[in-house]
Amino acid sequence: MNIDIGDIIEGEIIDFTHEGNGVMKVDGFPVFVEDALIGDVIKVKITQMKKSFALGIVESLEKPSTNRVEYKFDTEALGGGVPLLGYSYDKQLEWKRNKVIQDLHRIGGVDVAVNPVIGMGHPFRYRNHSQVPIGKFDGKAITGYYKRKSSDIVPMEEDHLQPEVADSILKTVRDWIDKYNVSVYDRETKEGIVRHIGIRTNENNESMVILVTTFSTLPNKFQLVHMLVKDCPGVVSVYQNINPMDGKFTYGRQYIHLFGKETLTDYIGDLQFKISPDSFFQINRQQVGVLYGKAREYLQGSEEDIVYDLYSGIGTISLFVAGDVNKVIGIESVQAAVKNAEENAKLNGIENVEFHHGKAEDLFPQMINKGMKANKIILDPPRKGCDKELIQAILAMQPDRIVYVSCNPSTLARDLKILVEDGYSVKKVQPVDMFPHSAHIECACLIEKK
Ligand SMILES: C[S@@+](CC[C@H](N)C(=O)[O-])C[C@H]1O[C@@H](n2cnc3c(N)ncnc32)[C@H](O)[C@@H]1O
Repeated sequence: MNIDIGDIIEGEIIDFTHEGNGVMKVDGFPVFVEDALIGDVIKVKITQMKKSFALGIVESLEKPSTNRVEYKFDTEALGGGVPLLGYSYDKQLEWKRNKVIQDLHRIGGVDVAVNPVIGMGHPFRYRNHSQVPIGKFDGKAITGYYKRKSSDIVPMEEDHLQPEVADSILKTVRDWIDKYNVSVYDRETKEGIVRHIGIRTNENNESMVILVTTFSTLPNKFQLVHMLVKDCPGVVSVYQNINPMDGKFTYGRQYIHLFGKETLTDYIGDLQFKISPDSFFQINRQQVGVLYGKAREYLQGSEEDIVYDLYSGIGTISLFVAGDVNKVIGIESVQAAVKNAEENAKLNGIENVEFHHGKAEDLFPQMINKGMKANKIILDPPRKGCDKELIQAILAMQPDRIVYVSCNPSTLARDLKILVEDGYSVKKVQPVDMFPHSAHIECACLIEKK
């Protein structure tokens, strides 16, 4: 390869990686560049050489992509989670659909018509849960996300990914810190108390505020509760969370209830969910309803159907389809999620579902061997896709119909390949954009016996 670390090369960005970084080719060799969009002509400085690709940083933007869009707010403040933000939303959806088509073809050998991506009418303010770091700059409180690969916070007045109510909560927390000179945690010196502010908001714009601190001792905490209730309409619940660690988890194990309701009630479609501060809940309630609605349509449930929901989480899909079928059997590896799923079934008065704790690849074959067979299957695995043994067990059971909900088109394609080689065919693929401005794309996929 004719390039080396330190070289500066001019070229055009032609694609995005899985993480949303720009891809440029130099004599066919891929170079991945952060903060570069398809269509940009840039000068890139090579920073690392790997066996099959290089990494680089933008030295200069020579000619911006014609699909770049400008926003009136500070886009840098939203952090690294939305790398496609500067690329027009229509083009993002086009790129995401193409990615699904390419992955299915290249990895899975599956050539099927892929529907246009269902995007959002207004692709902002869609997150119902965020955890925002708190710091100080020049002695004043700041809230905002970390700069990429750094513990510096980019100060943010408005978080355009969260509902507006979150902006006023963040402002009130900053005012409280300044007014009472509250101690803020410093990741360099490892000193200080207040670390993050978690905000969960429901469909009715009611919020649960979770103040993350290093210790349980927190002077003036009830003054904060008072300010939140007075200045931020819709704050119905306040918790303190204790996290003494700098690890990858924002929340620690201990929660102290400070004010109001213990849980927040939220909805996906007609289903109700009671959310505790530590519950898993889908981030984009509107789009998850669309995705699971597609899964339900593809399942075409009828009164005779026995359905396995494998990787059932807190039971959302099981509960979504339960009214159409005879019975749903969920399998999930996280015990707390199984408990949530059972509680959610009770809360919604749904009785024809049961949830089992275990690994799908272990438990499903055991249950089948005991005669607990089904004619339809729903799969919603994590990014790494399904375990091979699980797919073999599904093939042995020969269901009529499989609905595969996927958050990773590459592993979806890999798993479909095995099913297609063994008597199944892929009938429909519907991508849904759950995380606008990120490189993620979810799909609902209908697979039937040939
Ligand atoms: C994409 S989520 C599915 C969410 C689920 N549909 C819901 O509504 O909550 C994937 C789920 O698979 C679970 N999981 C991961 N590996 C598993 C395994 N080997 N067997 C069963 N469940 C697993 C995770 O804990 C997670 O809840």
